[in-house]
Amino acid sequence: MRRPGARCLAAGAALGALMAVASGLGAFYAAAVWGWLPANADAKPPALEKWIANKALDAVILREAPTKPNPLQLDDRNLIDGIHLYAANCAVCHGASDGRPSPIARGLYQKAPQLARYGVEDDEDGDVYWKVAHGIRMTGMPSFSGSLRDRQLWQIVLFLKNMESLPPAAQKAWEAVPSAAPRSVARRGNSTSSKEKHS
Ligand code: HEC
Repeated sequence: MRRPGARCLAAGAALGALMAVASGLGAFYAAAVWGWLPANADAKPPALEKWIANKALDAVILREAPTKPNPLQLDDRNLIDGIHLYAANCAVCHGASDGRPSPIARGLYQKAPQLARYGVEDDEDGDVYWKVAHGIRMTGMPSFSGSLRDRQLWQIVLFLKNMESLPPAAQKAWEAVPSAAPRSVARRGNSTSSKEKHS
């Protein structure tokens, strides 16, 4: 049987831990209701927030993303359909072939990558599919599983994965997508679709 002193010590430690958690939650609540928690979008995400958000995203994708390759055939029809879907649903945040951001893209907290410059060609098909289907919580990246059919999601993935090496007809359709940047900005500089991968 345990000695009464040891039991007392264990109870004290448990109570101490409980009080620490309660005061942590209390401080968090107070910070929220007194306006000390940053709620603005015009800020740079702190490194710790980025680290934990990326860790969580990578872990969920590893667990949930389909591992099969794109079921669609790589042909002009699927690529061009993917480009039209991208123009209608994504270009406002991820830009057109000139890689220049719209005011919406500039103002998001978690910046939307301009995919003509920072593409996802090297990512797995299933990972890109998961992000487009489910979105990315607490960023501006919406989920499209409720608004696009599965085939359409894979057509977009096909386009994104092949954006750098499109056959001529698809390349023409891609370059015809209007720039997302305001006119004055879009006209400045040449319209390049050259890419620099970010790390
Ligand atoms: C309202 C803005 C918005 C729209 C519309 C939007 N996205 Fe996003 N998207 C974002 C943001 C913001 C991120 C960055 C999230 C982060 O930092 O984790 C993102 C991230 C992504 C990523 C991950 C990029 C990477 O480097 O891993 C992909 C892929 C993507 N979006 C594809 C799409 C596609 C395809 C569409 C259209 C079907 C779309 N997005 C529509 C805002 C948007």
